[in-house]
Amino acid sequence: MTTPDWEVGSDFQVVDQALLVSGSVRPPWESNDQPVSYFESGRQALAAVSDHLKSQGRSRLLMPAFYCESMIEPFATDGWSIDFAAVSGDLRVQPVDAVEAPQETAILSLPYFGTPEAPEWLASLATWQNAGAVVISDETHRVLAPGLASADYRVASLRKMLPLPDGAYLSGAALAPSECEATSTAEVRLAAMKTKSDFMARRGPSEHRALFLRAEELTEAAVRPAPMSSASQDWIGRFDYGELARIRVSNARALVAAISASAYSPAQDGAEVRSHMVITGPDLIGLRAHLIAHRVFCPVHWPEPQHGPKPAGAWPTSYLSVPIDHRYSVDDLTHVGQLIRDHVPS
Ligand SMILES: Cc1ncc(COP(=O)(O)O)c(C=O)c1O
Repeated sequence: MTTPDWEVGSDFQVVDQALLVSGSVRPPWESNDQPVSYFESGRQALAAVSDHLKSQGRSRLLMPAFYCESMIEPFATDGWSIDFAAVSGDLRVQPVDAVEAPQETAILSLPYFGTPEAPEWLASLATWQNAGAVVISDETHRVLAPGLASADYRVASLRKMLPLPDGAYLSGAALAPSECEATSTAEVRLAAMKTKSDFMARRGPSEHRALFLRAEELTEAAVRPAPMSSASQDWIGRFDYGELARIRVSNARALVAAISASAYSPAQDGAEVRSHMVITGPDLIGLRAHLIAHRVFCPVHWPEPQHGPKPAGAWPTSYLSVPIDHRYSVDDLTHVGQLIRDHVPS
């Protein structure tokens, strides 16, 4: 049974003590011997890679044609020429037969929602890497199970899957943001997370939404590489990563089981630990509205980019990303699945 203030989705509140360990742990993305630098945001980490590669004479970016606008911005701002690899209906990046000037090229790869890259795209990455291109893996959707060992650089925004006020990593080059000052982004987002925690525990007013909006504005404005906050630095050494991953796996399974007799189905398969369970079906606009009416808030991955270079063809819109994170139980996701099953497509 759900309570009247039950909800799924939207920004993270402060993590439950039960998901922290008492000692200090090494985060999963630090498990190889590569140097790791920390930044406030994913776009700052990408800006640092862009600067670094530009100084080495690279200025051509090849990336999948479905992406978050904040991924492309640092490269577009730095004047890179940008080409796109097509993405199929089940979110597989299509192989690329020709790359002009591979030695001037960086290829950005992205495991959508945690699903490992398709073999045909991996084969293209290997071909063009051998010909001189460098590969940047954006691991934002798989920070709990990082992969693509062959990548030259690995980057992720941490606060999409982890309850942190800011943070991103870059591994593969020591590009620490030493000469930049931190902004107040983490402070404002942390205040929002704490206010939301109080609100959820019915101890406070619902002022967190305005604070989260303010934090997002600050993140968007802070494009120069700056160091991750000390609050996030502390948390990344204390999360119970195994448990965070286990909850996502069992929640995803519960959701899939609950929608098995519905008009909706998973849009991808093959992921172990997902950022979201992405579903597809006949009336996603109606389904989103139905879920919002029942306090299930699914983020839009991703709005069609408004600025900069754009891929040819229609922007994919046939997906709905359902949150499956550590805040929820199997019962919660079974209930979300029942809501999806009950929705009558129009
Ligand atoms: C896959 C991916 N990479 C990078 C980013 C940029 O991260 P940030 O918002 O921390 O700058 C985003 C933002 O949503 C993203 O979805």
